[in-house]
Amino acid sequence: MTRYAIPFTRPHRTGREAALVGDALGGDHWRGDGPYTARASALLSSLVGGGRVLLTTSCTHALELSALLLGVGPGDEVIVPSFTFVSTASAFALRGARIVFADVDPRTLCLDPADVARKATPRTRAVVVVHYAGVAADLDGLAAAGGTAALVEDNAHSLLGAWRGRPLGSFGTMATQSFHDTKNLSCGEGGALVLNDPALHERAEILREKGTNRARFFRGEVDKYTWVDLGSSYLPSDILAAILVAQLERADATQTARHHAWARYHAELAPWAERHGVQRPHVPVPAAHAAHIYWLRVRDLATRQALIGHLAAAGIQATFHYQPLHLSEVGRKAGGQPGDCPVSELVADTLVRLPLYTDLGDADIDRVLAAVTSFTP
Ligand SMILES: Cc1ncc(COP(=O)(O)O)c(C=O)c1O
Repeated sequence: MTRYAIPFTRPHRTGREAALVGDALGGDHWRGDGPYTARASALLSSLVGGGRVLLTTSCTHALELSALLLGVGPGDEVIVPSFTFVSTASAFALRGARIVFADVDPRTLCLDPADVARKATPRTRAVVVVHYAGVAADLDGLAAAGGTAALVEDNAHSLLGAWRGRPLGSFGTMATQSFHDTKNLSCGEGGALVLNDPALHERAEILREKGTNRARFFRGEVDKYTWVDLGSSYLPSDILAAILVAQLERADATQTARHHAWARYHAELAPWAERHGVQRPHVPVPAAHAAHIYWLRVRDLATRQALIGHLAAAGIQATFHYQPLHLSEVGRKAGGQPGDCPVSELVADTLVRLPLYTDLGDADIDRVLAAVTSFTP
């Protein structure tokens, strides 16, 4: 694999991880739901508007838990953006739901409420929204578009983003987080389910603990625990939660650094982008973004590949992103056809993501800016 002077992404070390992991290892609670899980859950809850947080082993597992909790099954339809990661759709497909792919807005690359409204039917049980690149989807439009369907926020990109001053992750019946090492805050692999409806708390706890009421037993609420529902094992070890505590405690500093890089790209690439008709991210007025991804959109696939190659020659790793799910092997078997989600299809071919990580210094940013602006699209 090519080594780049400036990689696309790197996990950030706050400097506290090793001490907290050492402390966790020194104790006797290595399994899930120990003291570090409690600390990480409380810290995360305060960042997403106060919902109940259950840490999971990944965002994928949090999405699977959402599907179980909503009781989605055969005969139900779930609307997801075509331009997203596989798990947004597969978690619901695994339960037998029919996945309905909706297109994205060409400015924000988030679910287009008009297409959701067109595709919603009385069978639509859930609409899953992704706040792509950390920029909020049109949550006002989506509230009306999905009818009575539950809104699930796949908040993998957008922890610490907001819409009308309210944190992302607080709008859906539930929201899911990712702490994969490409995300702003990470514990290697990890995730969380945020529950914004207290009526779901008890069942969520049971499904996450193999379908047992073990959590109630440990709280002394029942004298033995037993199998009460159909669930699985979604608990991360408390050792991983210790890494997450270190990351969550320094979330402000992480976000400040990422916003600095994002803002420099945005301001300093503006004249070049305007001259060459290159599209840059659009942050709608009600939104505050989370500085997760900085993207550019060029004319066509050949230009996109040429830009990635030009940056690679300068030692800079830039990458494309999602391929439309309705045209994936599974999407086509479910009836997906070219032209079903035209914006997603176009964006898949024309989008480039620039390096963006917490430790990207000003000299690195200068180098990326010089390389991009020396390219003629
Ligand atoms: C939008 C979105 N949802 C879900 C996931 C899955 O996250 P995880 O790797 O934590 O399962 C990703 C991963 O990149 C993602 O980008």
